[in-house]
Amino acid sequence: MNKKWLILPGLALVAQAFQPDRSVQANDPEHDLITVTAPAAEVQDLLRNACYDCHSDRTTYPWYSYITPVNFWMQHHIDEGRAEFDMSSWGRRRDKWQRHKAKESVEMLEEGKMPLPSYTWVHPQARLSDAERNALMGFFKGLMPAGESEEGKEER
Ligand code: HEC
Repeated sequence: MNKKWLILPGLALVAQAFQPDRSVQANDPEHDLITVTAPAAEVQDLLRNACYDCHSDRTTYPWYSYITPVNFWMQHHIDEGRAEFDMSSWGRRRDKWQRHKAKESVEMLEEGKMPLPSYTWVHPQARLSDAERNALMGFFKGLMPAGESEEGKEER
């Protein structure tokens, strides 16, 4: 057999040794959004299933997340999601940050931008029904003081 054909699988195998950095900046568990706000069990499940893989330090990594290059692509989303909105850090954030992130979340949900479509494609349990989307939006609206859901009232 021509040895050339062994090069590609060989390279693919070697590539598996390259893994992204999965370390997280540890948050005090007391500061976690779910712990601090203690929402209804249904909302807790929705947050864990649809948001927490990318927006918390409690990411669940499925088996295919260890395959190069999928791992790097996924870790990039997780790092970016955490950098934008780390829900595990909720309790140590300032009011203004919390209000802003809650408002952004309502908008993302309303526009169907979150959870990311590439995520719901492989995580069917994260696909939100209208009722679930409304429940999550209601939860995030509840984290904004009355009137804050209107435009232009971000600053106080
Ligand atoms: C697959 C990973 C992933 C999942 C799941 C996910 N997000 Fe995101 N999220 C991101 C990434 C990446 C960004 C930053 C880039 C962008 O805005 O598209 C982001 C940005 C955001 C932002 C913008 C923050 C800002 O200040 O601009 C909000 C708010 C947000 N996500 C809320 C949510 C909510 C709520 C859920 C669950 C319903 C969710 N996301 C699920 C990856 C994810």
